[in-house]
Amino acid sequence: MKQSIITFAILSLCISSLPSTSAQVTNLPCTFRNFEGFYECFLTALIIPDNEITNYAFTGTHLPGQSHATVERLNIQGSRAYFIIRQAFTSFPNLRVYSFTAAVAGNTMRFQQDAFLNASNLQQIVITGAGLNTIAPNSLAGAPNLQILNLQNNQIASLPHNLLDGATSLVHFNLMQNQLTEINQGFFSRNTNLTIINLNNNQLTNLPQILLSQTRLLTQFHAQSNQINAIGRRFLSNLDALTTLSLLTNACVSQNFVNINPGNINLVHTALQNCYNNYGGSAELRQYRMNLRGSMTLWREDGSLVGTL
Ligand SMILES: *[C@@H]1O[C@H](CO)[C@@H](O)[C@H](O)[C@H]1NC(C)=O
Ligand SMILES: *[C@@H]1O[C@H](CO)[C@@H](O)[C@H](O)[C@H]1NC(C)=O
Repeated sequence: MKQSIITFAILSLCISSLPSTSAQVTNLPCTFRNFEGFYECFLTALIIPDNEITNYAFTGTHLPGQSHATVERLNIQGSRAYFIIRQAFTSFPNLRVYSFTAAVAGNTMRFQQDAFLNASNLQQIVITGAGLNTIAPNSLAGAPNLQILNLQNNQIASLPHNLLDGATSLVHFNLMQNQLTEINQGFFSRNTNLTIINLNNNQLTNLPQILLSQTRLLTQFHAQSNQINAIGRRFLSNLDALTTLSLLTNACVSQNFVNINPGNINLVHTALQNCYNNYGGSAELRQYRMNLRGSMTLWREDGSLVGTL
């Protein structure tokens, strides 16, 4: 009896001293420095296992007069990480730039649903060459001050329809060099401050009629080296500020247009006749199907509204 009590005591001692998974802390040793106009935490050659539960802590010695509260940029290069390190936004409450570039070869990455939940001061996301291939719906909802989203050179094949709904301050959108086959007609509908959209080097096959109907400040739209064979006739209707339209190397058009103004926009329309003629039919039907989940809005082929059911 006595022996079993002692055994029990030893056993429970062992169990209670086992670290629980959520209590694990992994230190990320920053080099704090002033670089490219930012006070930043620089990290390189970091290998982070695929474990979101781990609590990551940023360590390192600050420059005189600086602290975690003054860090403006997280700059991770040549590293491996499969997800956004959310703790960056609570450790560095004034973080303005999250940058993860030139990942270790073969890296893949995802935006978790709550990746940017505490990123209320974030202005730029720069994630390039990182193997980013999965973006959870609404994952940018916590970043209302985001101005630049640069996801160039990743493996993004589709985008959640509501991704940019909360990002109303967005000015630059760069998804160049990915594998996008389609972009929903309402994707930019809340982003009225957008001035540059870059979709070069993807696999888009059409540009929906009302894709840019709310981006009236847009000056540049780039979609060269895609497979575009159809463009809605009213695609350019609301773009009074547009100066540059890149459509070189597509199926229905292969030309870049620069110095566009109201005086020469008709030349652009003329060059896009084939694309306009190809629009309708299958492209329109695909857009209707996408809308069936919520309400259904119907447009005629010329872009005028039929009604909403
Ligand atoms: C957001 O911040 C709160 C308060 O610091 C913290 O408890 C929570 O875990 C954070 N959420 C995420 C997803 O980082
Ligand atoms: C859009 O830009 C204007 C002018 O820079 C600015 O005043 C406004 O706050 C911006 N809107 C949003 C939602 O960020």
